[in-house]
Amino acid sequence: MPPHPLFFTHGLGSRLWDVDGHEYIDYVLGWGPLILGSSHPRIVEALRDQAGRGTTFGAGHDWEYEVAEQIVDIIPGVQRVLWSNTGSEAVQVALRLARASTGRQRFLKFSGHYHGWSDAVLLGYRSLGQLPMPESRGQSSRAADDVALVAWNDADEVRKVLTDPTQDIAAVLVEPVLCNSGVIAPEPGFLERLREVCDETSTVLIFDEVITGFRVAYGGAVERFHVQPDLVVLGKAIAGGLPLSAVAGRGDLIDQVTVGVVHAGTLNGNPLVLAAAAATLDELGRPDTYECLERRAATLVNGIAVVFDSAAFSATVHNVGAIVQVTPTSSIGLPTFSTYMGADWKFYNELIVALLRRGIFVMPGGRMYLSTEHSDEDIAATVDAFSGAVEEVVNSCKP
Ligand SMILES: Cc1ncc(COP(=O)(O)O)c(C=O)c1O
Repeated sequence: MPPHPLFFTHGLGSRLWDVDGHEYIDYVLGWGPLILGSSHPRIVEALRDQAGRGTTFGAGHDWEYEVAEQIVDIIPGVQRVLWSNTGSEAVQVALRLARASTGRQRFLKFSGHYHGWSDAVLLGYRSLGQLPMPESRGQSSRAADDVALVAWNDADEVRKVLTDPTQDIAAVLVEPVLCNSGVIAPEPGFLERLREVCDETSTVLIFDEVITGFRVAYGGAVERFHVQPDLVVLGKAIAGGLPLSAVAGRGDLIDQVTVGVVHAGTLNGNPLVLAAAAATLDELGRPDTYECLERRAATLVNGIAVVFDSAAFSATVHNVGAIVQVTPTSSIGLPTFSTYMGADWKFYNELIVALLRRGIFVMPGGRMYLSTEHSDEDIAATVDAFSGAVEEVVNSCKP
């Protein structure tokens, strides 16, 4: 992390403090999970209470049912919930359920989409071509055999692959908003077309909502776009910063874990993280939570856009719910995967450092997460900091 790794001592609400005593407004939010900010009193209380009553049982307990019932209520169409610890694990569970139910082997994913670090899915994340290239040294070279890679928003190509029985496709795995590469929304009708062709070909539609879940709406992308997948993968915000993930969805698919589909994990659904999840989901269910997040995101977007409008450097700024994206490019309109990949990330990386000096902590790649704890004053201070930081970097780039 340039200019050098940062180490933090504590966080509270929208703020973090580093070991040198610097205070930052936090738009990284632990790379997404801290939707209630740091150390939210409801989560702290839930953890304290549960820690004194046992952190894992290796057997059933009330939270498993209570939080599953919350999720069934929150996300449209969900009938069952399975617990695991990280998004990467839950994606594997979803793919296994899809393979078991269809008897098919391969799956379709989209360029630029990230579904965790496992060999099976870390393919075609940063490549613009049609080949599902591995992204890591040491990754199984055979993993790519199981993947058909399609460009984001190309519904015709999805249809071509799915209607070809030799492709042997069990599932379409998709970030319903391409958050990991530019926060690129689905084109109008695209998710509907995925649903349609999955129905026609009896293919399992999996929404990877590890980022969008509880963030682009209380019921995530399923609620926001009104398209019903067969399975939803949840992670990050679900437990407000504790390690919890889930696969939720159709009862007949998930019930396969009682008939030969292995779903294992020592700490799956432990009471500590589920107590945090119950508190998080309860807090997020307060009236106006999402209207408020949406309003603050829009204010931030407009403020940063004005900064770039009057600077000698172009960027597009937009949001989908509580996810803001700044893309340093002169291309007109919202980013596509290729304009995102071709953007001036050298400029943005310098901007990150200039923002750090002004007390603003943002992620690489242009994404900024908002929490319920970011105030109007935080947003105003952030826009001011962008103004100074952009000017500094533009001036430092002048010959
Ligand atoms: C869309 C998506 N899916 C899956 C994952 C993997 O989750 P985890 O890092 O918890 O394994 C991530 C992580 O960033 C993600 O963004």
